[in-house]
Amino acid sequence: MERLNVTEIYGGIEFPGHLHTQESLQAASEFQFRDTDVLVATYPKSGTTWLQEILTLIFSKGSLEPAHTIPNWARAPWLEHLYFNTLVPRLNPAIPRLFTTHLPSQVLAPALKKSKVTVLYLARHPKDVLVSFYHFHKIAKFLPDRGNFDDFLDQFLKGKVHFGSWFTHVQGWLDLREEVNVNLITYEDLSQEPRCTIQRLCGILGCQLQSQEEDIILKNCTFSAMSQNSMVNYSLVSNKFLDQTKGKFMRKGEMGNWKEHFSPEQNKKFNAIYLTKMKDYILHFPWSLD
Ligand code: A3P
Repeated sequence: MERLNVTEIYGGIEFPGHLHTQESLQAASEFQFRDTDVLVATYPKSGTTWLQEILTLIFSKGSLEPAHTIPNWARAPWLEHLYFNTLVPRLNPAIPRLFTTHLPSQVLAPALKKSKVTVLYLARHPKDVLVSFYHFHKIAKFLPDRGNFDDFLDQFLKGKVHFGSWFTHVQGWLDLREEVNVNLITYEDLSQEPRCTIQRLCGILGCQLQSQEEDIILKNCTFSAMSQNSMVNYSLVSNKFLDQTKGKFMRKGEMGNWKEHFSPEQNKKFNAIYLTKMKDYILHFPWSLD
């Protein structure tokens, strides 16, 4: 199923028709979670693949087998993707079911409230998300051409990109914490304090690891290790869909790469909108605007 130029609109948000249909999006919104399920929720380019890899290795207690033999999308399937139903029966029944979503909280809230599912909401500095997403549009054939960096910045700030507004996404998931077990993790925590963050994840998930097992996870989840792992670097996906001759999925893996892309004017514009929209949420995040 290619549908590279198809856009599905669901809940007022645009999704690439390549992996989403009205039926798959509707099915996600009605999914019956189990109390033991773990859901990774992210806005695209926030480090989803990184967290999937860390969780895989936490649940395998450092065994590399699943991370080196099963593609990430089959270990932690996206709820809203077309192939979700074919992947669920193949999940390892000995560990909690791990799922992924880019859906906004309002679409999943009714289903989530019916269970005690653990949600891990991974957020990243929005300027780095924007830059990563801009570059991803250059290689992802299922996303539209959104022009140059300045055009993209404008559309991102207005929320007029696929998967909707970053601001609304983050706010919606944080607001859901009153009713659902949503835990905020950041890309910056994973970068700056990886061992502490793995221990925090274990605390949330009720897992215990030996320090040697943590060492294995740390070693196998670096940017360089993951760049070489075909189960997570998306080299299994055809160039027809993701053209990695034009740029890599595992691109830079840095904090603050936005500084090489934003002009002073673009930065000023971004900051003004961020401060207005995020004024009630700023304290939740470890990043600074400059
Ligand atoms: P960049 O484009 O800034 O390099 P997602 O998985 O949500 O699509 O996010 C992809 C982003 O996470 C990319 O960012 C990618 O390089 C980065 N990433 C993936 N694994 C990483 C790791 N182990 N360490 C640091 N960054 C990582």
